[in-house]
Amino acid sequence: MRKLRIIMAYSALETVPREIASHPQIRAYAERRRKPPTKVILDKSYHFHAMKSLKDKEMRGRPDMVFAFLLAALASPLNQRGLLEVYVHTRDDYVIFVNPKMKPIRSYERFLGIMEKLFEEGRVPEEGEPLMEIRNMGLEYLVKKVIGTEGIVLLEHGGRLVPPKRIAEMGREYPIVVQGFPRGDFGLEAYKIAKEKAYIFPTILDSWLVADRIIAAYEEISGVYG
Ligand SMILES: C[S@@+](CC[C@H](N)C(=O)[O-])C[C@H]1O[C@@H](n2cnc3c(N)ncnc32)[C@H](O)[C@@H]1O
Repeated sequence: MRKLRIIMAYSALETVPREIASHPQIRAYAERRRKPPTKVILDKSYHFHAMKSLKDKEMRGRPDMVFAFLLAALASPLNQRGLLEVYVHTRDDYVIFVNPKMKPIRSYERFLGIMEKLFEEGRVPEEGEPLMEIRNMGLEYLVKKVIGTEGIVLLEHGGRLVPPKRIAEMGREYPIVVQGFPRGDFGLEAYKIAKEKAYIFPTILDSWLVADRIIAAYEEISGVYG
């Protein structure tokens, strides 16, 4: 059975950028975490004031979207059966490769700690088999060169209305892509390689939930429940 590949693209996951690293809100936060300011993960719920002057601020500082996505994906029966591949692409063109053996991270605080480490070391854990690795590459390179497919199915509000089961069927051929930031359009590369633009329900849903519905539909069509 083919694996389902899901990519969270242009995710709002990054370390604190230099231009706001000296803001008092960031300095106090970094001190609490006992890290240099540029080594902590940017998070709008903690760094709201500091982010006021930041370019594209409405598309940044939402690591909780990645947290929820990974929690749903890694805990799924599909992943437990070894039928899921998960990638997190970030707005700065880093890609996190997630080992299916990675245990779901249930504490948000712990998630932030692991992400800080991942950005610093390039992999976690430092020794032995990597559970997560981060590499510098764009979405198109990931899809075409690493995964080895011609295109993607882009899930976005305003495409064609297609039920999850049908998207799951397309997932046999193409990676399914959800957006990892709260507002606005995907980057241009995503549109360039999109074979299909679709949405599953008339209202805007959380991206982890959309990913979860596709995973559940894929579980059905691949016989995970017998
Ligand atoms: C919170 S939404 C992003 C919101 C949207 N781009 C905007 O400007 O308000 C995050 C992602 O979840 C997915 N998503 C949200 N609602 C969806 C729906 N009804 N059908 C399919 N995907 C959806 C899409 O990948 C979307 O980009």
